This record gives sequence, structure tokens and C-alpha cells, in this order.
Amino acid sequence: MDHDEGRVPSHEDIECVLLSQADIKGIVKRMGEELAEDYRESNPLFIAILRGAVVFFADLIRAVHCPMQIDFMAVSSYGSAAKSSGVVRILKDLDTPIEGRDIVIVEDILDTGITLNYLIKNLESRGPRSIEIAAFLVKDVPGQRSAVLPRYVGAHVPDAFVVGYGLDYDERYRNLPYLGVLKPEVYS
Ligand code: PRP
Repeated sequence: MDHDEGRVPSHEDIECVLLSQADIKGIVKRMGEELAEDYRESNPLFIAILRGAVVFFADLIRAVHCPMQIDFMAVSSYGSAAKSSGVVRILKDLDTPIEGRDIVIVEDILDTGITLNYLIKNLESRGPRSIEIAAFLVKDVPGQRSAVLPRYVGAHVPDAFVVGYGLDYDERYRNLPYLGVLKPEVYS
């Protein structure tokens, strides 16, 4: 943990840092270059999925040096019951028509893939030219295979309770500037 990270309130709840601010900067730069190369002529629409993705989204779009537009969606979170039922509900829809557009869905983390699987199907029905996913994190859970494969991935993380850089526990820790593993005593 570097000096700046040590000054962040709530850092005492963090067991270890998985990705430092420097690590994240490097990841965002690499992904931004990949996306700019692939979308430099198509004026893509980047869609942030609220709320967890906002921190990554804000950094990522500034690292993609090509013309683009942005929009936002919010989907319901029903907790573990929703994950098993696969039910997702749109709470805030796009303001932008996407027919014929190249779409990049930006997510903070892909876990079961239920959220993205639903979103892709929903957006496909609106007739875009293409849909790809840029996920900051992919959680590697033993025995779990997501139905969705992001083209752009920041990092793989183990099956641990990760917070910071937009990710929360009970709506806390989103403002930590690094990605950390939460101490088990905080949520048990
Ligand atoms: C998180 C994350 C994804 C989803 C991934 O959102 O931002 O949207 O879970 O999980 P899945 O792959 O198992 O579907 P969350 O419901 O925690 O809401 P938040 O973004 O507001 O934190």
C-alpha cells in the first residue's frame, strides 16, 4: 500500500490491495489504446452500467482517443436471489437510439454473467451494428462459466470480496482509489 492509499478513510477494512492506483492506470491505458484502435472510425456509443462502473468508465473514456458518445443504464440488483433466478430489470434506460451503432458496454465486474447476458439480449433487439463488452474485472470462480465473454478485459480477480474503484459493499468503499479485498470480519 503506498502513502496515498494509506490515507484513504476505510482502508483499515481492507485485507490486501489487489490492484494499486498504478496498476489501474496501466490497465486503463492499455484498454483505451485497444478500444481506440478498434473504434477509431465508427463513433461508438459507450454505455456505463450504473453504479459500479462509473469510476472505471470515467477513466476509460478519457483513455480512448477517438470520437465517441456516452450514455448510461441502471439495472436492478436483487442480490443472490436474482442471480439464481436470472431476473434483471431496467431501472434507467438509454436516452440514445442505438440502431446501426457500434456499442461498447462498460462494466466494473463480470461475475455470473447474468447481468450482461440480459443486457446484450435486450440491446440486440434494438438493432445495433455491434455490441462488445469492456469489463474492468472478470471474477474467476471455480466451476462457474459465464455465458458472456468480454472482448476487452482489465484483469482477472479471484473469488474474493473485492471493493474500491467503484465496487461496493453495502454502498461503501466505492471511492477507494485502488481495488482491495475486504476483511471477512466486515461482512460476516
Ligand atoms: C455488479 C456489477 C455487475 C454485476 C455483475 O452490480 O456492477 O453489474 O454485479 O454480476 P453478474 O455477472 O453476476 O451479473 P451490482 O448489482 O452489485 O450493482 P452496482 O453496480 O450498483 O454495485
